[in-house]
Amino acid sequence: MRYRRCGNSGILLPEISLGLWHNFGSADSRERCRALVGRALELGICHFDLADNYGPPPGAAESCFGELLQKEFAGHRDEMFIATKAGHLMWPGPYGDWGSKKHLIAGLNQSLRRLKLDYVDVFYHHRPDPETPIEETVSALEQIVRSGKALYIGLSKYPPRQFHRACTLLKEAGIPCLLHQFRYNMLDRDAEKGMLPATAEQKVGAVVFSPLAQGQLTGKYLSGILPADSRAARSDSVFLDAEKVKSNAEAVAKLNKQAYEAGIPLTQYALAWLLNKQEISSVLIGARTVEQLEECAKAAELSINTSE
Ligand SMILES: NC(=O)c1ccc[n+]([C@@H]2O[C@H](COP(=O)([O-])OP(=O)(O)OC[C@H]3O[C@@H](n4cnc5c(N)ncnc54)[C@H](OP(=O)(O)O)[C@@H]3O)[C@@H](O)[C@H]2O)c1
Repeated sequence: MRYRRCGNSGILLPEISLGLWHNFGSADSRERCRALVGRALELGICHFDLADNYGPPPGAAESCFGELLQKEFAGHRDEMFIATKAGHLMWPGPYGDWGSKKHLIAGLNQSLRRLKLDYVDVFYHHRPDPETPIEETVSALEQIVRSGKALYIGLSKYPPRQFHRACTLLKEAGIPCLLHQFRYNMLDRDAEKGMLPATAEQKVGAVVFSPLAQGQLTGKYLSGILPADSRAARSDSVFLDAEKVKSNAEAVAKLNKQAYEAGIPLTQYALAWLLNKQEISSVLIGARTVEQLEECAKAAELSINTSE
C-alpha cells in the first residue's frame, strides 16, 4: 500500500481506506466484519472511517468496531488511524443533531464509549449546520482536541465558502483542519467545481467517499439488481435503489467500455482514476467482503493514463 501526506501535516494515509458506513450494522455477520478489518490491516489499509450514525441502527458500526478492537486488535491500536464524526441525527430533542457544542461534545463522548477508546485520531463535523454560528462549532472542535478526545479535526461535506471560513477559524484556534471528506467519483464530478480545489487551496487532505458510486462503478448492476444481498437490493440501504441504478446505467456502460479498452476491470479503473489526482489523500471505499477489499486494494498498484 502506498501512503499519501494529508495537506500540510505530519499524517500519511493509505491510498485506499476502509469506511464502515454499511456492512458493519447489527444484521451483518461479525465474522465477516472481523475478517474485513484483519485483512485491511494486512494490506496496509490502516485508516478506518466511522461515524456515530453508521449501522444500521445508528451506533452499531462503532459498537461492532469497538468490540473487535477490544477483543481482536487491541495490540494494533497505534497502527490504526481511526475516524469518527457527529452532526447527523442521533437522538431525539433539540441536541441530537447538527453542529452545536452541546451536540458535538455529547456525540463524541457517546462514540468513545461505543468504540471503547479514550480518543479517536480524527473527529469530523459530519455536515455543515446552516443555523449554528460556525464560531460555536469551531469552539466545540477546539475543546475536543484540547481535551485529548481527538488528535485532529476534519470537516465533511462543507461547501467551499463555509469550508474556507471554518478553516480560517480552526487555524486561528491553533487546530488546523486535517481532512475534508466529500463525494467524488466518475459518475459524480461536482467536487471538481468547488470542494476539490478549495481543499487543495487550504492545504487540507482530501478524503473522497463513495468512489464506486456505492457499487455502481463495479459494473455489477449492468445486467440487473444482483446479487440479492447487494446494496441496491437491500431494504436497509436508503441511498441506492433500482431507480437510481437505472438512471446511471448508460453512463456506467460507457465507462465499463472505456475500462475494458484500457484492459482494467471497471472497479479498479474507477479507483485508479481518482488516485491519479494528486490533490486526493485517500479514497474511502466501503467493501462488504474480503474479496471486494482485495480487489479495491489492487487499484493502488495501478497507474492509468487519462487526462480527464
Ligand atoms: N462523510 C460522509 O457524509 C460520508 C457519506 C458516505 C460515505 N462516507 C464514507 O465513505 C465510505 C465509502 O462509501 P461507500 O460505501 O458509498 O463506497 P463505495 O466503495 O462507493 O461503495 C461500497 C459498495 O460497493 C460495492 N463494492 C465495493 N468494492 C467492490 C468490489 N471490489 N466488487 C464489487 N462490489 C464492490 C459493495 O456493494 P455491495 O454491498 O452491493 O456488495 C460495497 O458495499 C463509507 O463507508 C463511509 O465511511 C462518508
